[in-house]
Amino acid sequence: MEIVLATTNPGKIAEVNSLFKDSGISILSINDAKVPALEVEETGDTFAENAELKARAFAVATGLPVLADDSGLEVTALGNQPGVKSARWVSGSDTDRNTALLEKLSTIKDRSARFKTVICYLENADAEPHFFVGTVSGTINTVASGKTGFGYDPIFIPDGHTQTFAELGMDVKNKLSHRAQAFTQAATFLNKRQN
Ligand code: IMP
Repeated sequence: MEIVLATTNPGKIAEVNSLFKDSGISILSINDAKVPALEVEETGDTFAENAELKARAFAVATGLPVLADDSGLEVTALGNQPGVKSARWVSGSDTDRNTALLEKLSTIKDRSARFKTVICYLENADAEPHFFVGTVSGTINTVASGKTGFGYDPIFIPDGHTQTFAELGMDVKNKLSHRAQAFTQAATFLNKRQN
């Protein structure tokens, strides 16, 4: 069985393919499925809405089952912002967004936050959606620190650790991340369906 993962990111494809190893399911990137790159506007108010928008657009375009994900950072003291706007909350670079967030929290005691991923699976363009949610809770550090990863990794310390995701490195992050949790759930569901 072939499933399209609505991404062109080779790192994501490799990571997700390893979860489906020996399952008879192959994960195709948008490039593998030879779909012209679709610009899907993420106009939803929630991660689930955006994941379903992307999944639906690619299911229509490919005629194949599709997995699509949407992720972001929720900061409790900011009413769960930046949330769905994580990539574009402040214009500029990831560093600019991290600096802005640290500034906003400089006088705030509650530094709790969580990364969230919602995955939508559609068997076909008219199918009911299945959702899988992964969350990793933690705190926002007072300074940016560390070099690996992307986005808010240099300022996020996952619970149970004393270093940021960017200091902990990819091996640790890939075991506990919101994305890994959500894709593991999706893989369990799809592997069961397959057998
Ligand atoms: P996407 O939906 O996976 O493209 O994530 C949207 C945005 O959320 C990214 O551009 C980052 O700003 C933020 N984000 C999502 N996941 C992570 C993560 O694992 N580390 C750091 N930032 C993340």
